[in-house]
Amino acid sequence: MRVYFDHNATTPVDPSVVEVMVRVLDSSNDEFGNPSSIHHFGQRAKGILDDARTAVADLLRAEVSEVVFTSGGTESDNFAIRGVAEALEVTGRRHLVASAIEHEAVLTTLKALSRRGWTTTLLPVATSGIVAPDALEAAMTDQTALVSVMHANNEIGTVQPVADLARIAHARGALFHTDAVQSVGKIPVDVRALGADLLSLSAHKFNGPKGAGALWIKRGTRVTAILTGGKHERNRRAGTENVAAIAGLGAAATLASGRLTSEAARVSALRDRLETEILACIPRTAVNGARDRRVPNTTNISFDGVEAESLLIALDLEGVAVSTGSACSSGTLEPSHVLRAMGLPTHRTQNSIRLSLGAGNTDEQVDYLLARLPKVVEKLRSLTGARR
Ligand SMILES: Cc1ncc(COP(=O)(O)O)c(C=O)c1O
Repeated sequence: MRVYFDHNATTPVDPSVVEVMVRVLDSSNDEFGNPSSIHHFGQRAKGILDDARTAVADLLRAEVSEVVFTSGGTESDNFAIRGVAEALEVTGRRHLVASAIEHEAVLTTLKALSRRGWTTTLLPVATSGIVAPDALEAAMTDQTALVSVMHANNEIGTVQPVADLARIAHARGALFHTDAVQSVGKIPVDVRALGADLLSLSAHKFNGPKGAGALWIKRGTRVTAILTGGKHERNRRAGTENVAAIAGLGAAATLASGRLTSEAARVSALRDRLETEILACIPRTAVNGARDRRVPNTTNISFDGVEAESLLIALDLEGVAVSTGSACSSGTLEPSHVLRAMGLPTHRTQNSIRLSLGAGNTDEQVDYLLARLPKVVEKLRSLTGARR
């Protein structure tokens, strides 16, 4: 048996999404044209982009013209931050704020801009893994151009008080971006209720293809294009669109809109059972981050006396895929910057694994892991003990 509990890294593409993408790629369907071409083939391709844009707008309760297609979450985050920084440079606002637990796509972009003269502030988080609005209030200055705080964290799943944070940013004349890569498709995301100006999403996190995403830009928001060239995406992102992948993004958005409530309930029941039984059956375990303010699919658990990488490999040998944190930093022995920012002691940042569930997971798969995990942990603990 192979069990996949790493849906925050990526999700399998849903068969209905594959079907849509294959249809678009099949040249006998006349949908292979360049969406910028005026002829029949171009207009067929443009029609596919229009449908996908409507599907993404519906999922976000946004206006269709506010959705800009990108190559995924990383590009959307870069576009939001670099695009606003550049657009607002003339106003003299050269201060950027983000939380300390953002994805590398945000943190590294801030670092790059700080080398070019922008000042940056990283907001602390409590052990809950939540940003306190007071911390943002204290960080804001009249020079702040943009605040970027993620909607849901990829490692621990905590959901940030985005609406409160956006209100604070706006009160000081700054724009607000939220990286919603880990919340879109898992919990309702209503851009106007969130109060943000820009929002990033990525298709491969909700059963769509990799390499397709979107930046939602509220109408009237000042943001400069970072990819320059032709007039694609209403002059906001140049480059011939990846029509098949965008069709997949649209199909995944429609699928998510239709099953959001039922899947959230089903997956959170699985996650909660898994978590409760791990805590009950395996001594010296603890959940990282606030359990009551998380996306429904994620748990991050610390196993005292166990090295997270060893546990990941041992579980992989048993057929179960988990993660030690963000996909980008796994493979290195760097402790998670998220757990560190939460103030967890070093040993705990190195003995924690993330289990992230999704559409394909079942009760049988949860049972499969629960039947193996206690023994695996016991064995690793005895080995570590023996080495001491
Ligand atoms: C919170 C968050 N932001 C951004 C990204 C990057 O998205 P993509 O893989 O589409 O570039 C990820 C992916 O792991 C993520 O979890």
